[in-house]
Amino acid sequence: MKVVVVGSGGREHALALVLGRTAEVVVTPGNPGIPGSVPTPVEDLVAAGDVDLVVIGPEQPLVDGLADRLRAVGVRVLGPGADGARVEGSKAFMKELVTAAGVPTAGFATFDDAELAVAHLRSTPGPYVIKTDGLAAGKGVLVTTDLAEAEADVRAKLGGESFGSAGRRVVIEEHLSGPEVSVFAVCDGERTVCLPPAQDFKRVGDGDQGPNTGGMGAWSPLPFAPDDLAETVAKDFIEPTLAELRARGIDYRGVLYAGLMLTPDGPRLIEYNIRFGDPDSQVVLLRITSDLAELLAAAADGDLRAVPAPTFSNDTVVLVVVASEGYPESPRTGDPIAGLDEATAVAEVTMLTAGVAANEDNQLVTAGGRVLNAIGRGPDAVSARAQAYEAVGHLRWPGLHFRTDIATG
Ligand code: AMP
Ligand code: GLY
Repeated sequence: MKVVVVGSGGREHALALVLGRTAEVVVTPGNPGIPGSVPTPVEDLVAAGDVDLVVIGPEQPLVDGLADRLRAVGVRVLGPGADGARVEGSKAFMKELVTAAGVPTAGFATFDDAELAVAHLRSTPGPYVIKTDGLAAGKGVLVTTDLAEAEADVRAKLGGESFGSAGRRVVIEEHLSGPEVSVFAVCDGERTVCLPPAQDFKRVGDGDQGPNTGGMGAWSPLPFAPDDLAETVAKDFIEPTLAELRARGIDYRGVLYAGLMLTPDGPRLIEYNIRFGDPDSQVVLLRITSDLAELLAAAADGDLRAVPAPTFSNDTVVLVVVASEGYPESPRTGDPIAGLDEATAVAEVTMLTAGVAANEDNQLVTAGGRVLNAIGRGPDAVSARAQAYEAVGHLRWPGLHFRTDIATG
C-alpha cells in the first residue's frame, strides 16, 4: 500500500513511522527530520498515480475542504470533508451537534454580543470558561476565576482584537473539573474503533502553570483512567455523534478526537477535534502492534468491519516536547539544534521532529514553537519517563525549554 501523509509536525512523523511498518509512506511537506518528506503538493502526488490512501494530519486543510477535493478525484482519504470539519472549526456548531446527539458535555451559551456575554458572566458564580468559536490553535480558551479578566476577554474576543474573525463569536461554558484525557476514534462514517486514552499536558509550565500551548507532553496508558473508557466513549459519545452527523447528511470518515474530562459524575466531552492530537496521539500510535495502514484504509473505505480490531503494547510511552525560546507567545526560530544524535541513541527512545527546518549548511534548526518530541518507553511510567528525560538532557539550543513533570500523575 502507498500512503501519503499530509502535514509537517510530530504527529505526521509518528504516523509515517507506524504506517511505514506495513506501507510505503510519503509525507508532504513533512520536515527535514521525517524520512520520505517531499515538497510536492498532495494533489500532484495523487495525480501522478498509485496512491492508495491519503491521511490528512492537521485541521486547517480539512476545514478548507482538502478531503473533499481528493475524494472528488477518486482518492481514498482518511479525514472528514469540510462539512464534518465544522465539528472542530466551530465550537458553537460542535456544542449544538453533541447536545442534539445526547452526548454528555458541559452546559454552554453562545454569544455574538459583548454586552449580553458580560451580563451572562455576571449572572454566574465562576470559574469562567470562555472560548473563541473558530480555530485558534488551541489557544482561544480562557479559564479564570476573575470576573474582570473574564469580561475583558469576551470584550477583546468579540471586538476582534484577539483572534480576529475566529473570535467574533464566543461560547461560554459551565466549568468542569477532573483529569483530562484524549480518546482518538477512528471512524468509518457509521462505526468506530476507539484507541486507548492518552493524556496531554497543555500548559507551558510545570504543575500546569502558565499559558496554554498546543501540548507540552503526553503519555499512555493512563493508570487513573477506567479500563473500559474507550468502549464507553465509543458507545456514549462517538456512535451517537456519527449518527447525528449522518442524519445531517455528513459521512464522517476520519479521526474524531474526544477531549474529555473525567469528572466525579463520569466522562464529559470538552471538545472534539477532527484529527489525531499532537502530541497526544503519538504515544498511542507508538503502542499499536497491529497494521495501522490497514485500519485507516478500512475507515476511509467506510467499513471498519473489514479489518480486525487493533492491538496495543502494554508498555507505557511518555513523550516530552522540547520547545523553542519564547513558546508559546513568540517562538524564536533559526537556532541550530545540537545533540539529536545522542538523544536518539538512548535505548528505547524515539525522537520525532516537529518544528524544524534545515539551514543553508543542511543543519537542523528550530522552525516553530514545539521543536522536538523525546519519546521513551518502558514497562512502567517511571522507566519510560527516565528514558525520555535522558534523551532531552542531550539536546542543546539557546532558550530550549520543556516541562519536567510529564507523566508524574
Ligand atoms: P479546549 O480548547 O476546548 O480543549 O479547551 C482548552 C482547555 O481549557 C482544556 O484542555 C481545559 O483544560 C480547559 N477547559 C475547556 N473547557 C472547560 C470546561 N468546561 N471546564 C473546565 N475547563 C475547561
Ligand atoms: N494537543 C492537543 C491537540 O492536538 O489539539
